[in-house]
Amino acid sequence: MRAFLGGFAAFTFAAGMAHADSATGLGGHAVAADNGALVYQHVCQGCHQVGGRGAKGAGAGFPALANNPHLEVSGYPVSMVLNGHGGMPWFNGMLTPAQIAAVVNYVRTHFGNDYKDPVTAADVSAAAGPPPTMER
Ligand code: HEC
Repeated sequence: MRAFLGGFAAFTFAAGMAHADSATGLGGHAVAADNGALVYQHVCQGCHQVGGRGAKGAGAGFPALANNPHLEVSGYPVSMVLNGHGGMPWFNGMLTPAQIAAVVNYVRTHFGNDYKDPVTAADVSAAAGPPPTMER
């Protein structure tokens, strides 16, 4: 199961990064790149599914984001996306603070969630430590 999840995550990253590259070039200023719905579809939906309904099956679990009271306090999804947890990959250094803010705002105001206090890119930057380093 670990191997499967690893492969899935790698595939999702590849898709997400390809999108980010084509949408932003190196400057990161394109509108599409900061569009929460697009970030969700390209980066999160592979695991959390269409409509944020999540997926459960044979040992794997992707929690639903739909109607999820864990999204009420914005710092929690920001920290989840920045740092990951368990089977959830981290995106600090992979998505821009603006993209993370956009996708967090998107999931907090869609899929039956109605948390209207927006997160800003500055909030995300303030919560982010240095991107994790990996031996390459
Ligand atoms: C590779 C699969 C995968 C991807 C891609 C992914 N997640 Fe997750 N996510 C998970 C898993 C697995 C968990 C449960 C982690 C745990 O607590 O053990 C999770 C947990 C979460 C939680 C916490 C839910 C709760 O009820 O506590 C949030 C919020 C979340 N993800 C948002 C996102 C967002 C936003 C994205 C896109 C930027 C994303 N995830 C991308 C797999 C993924």
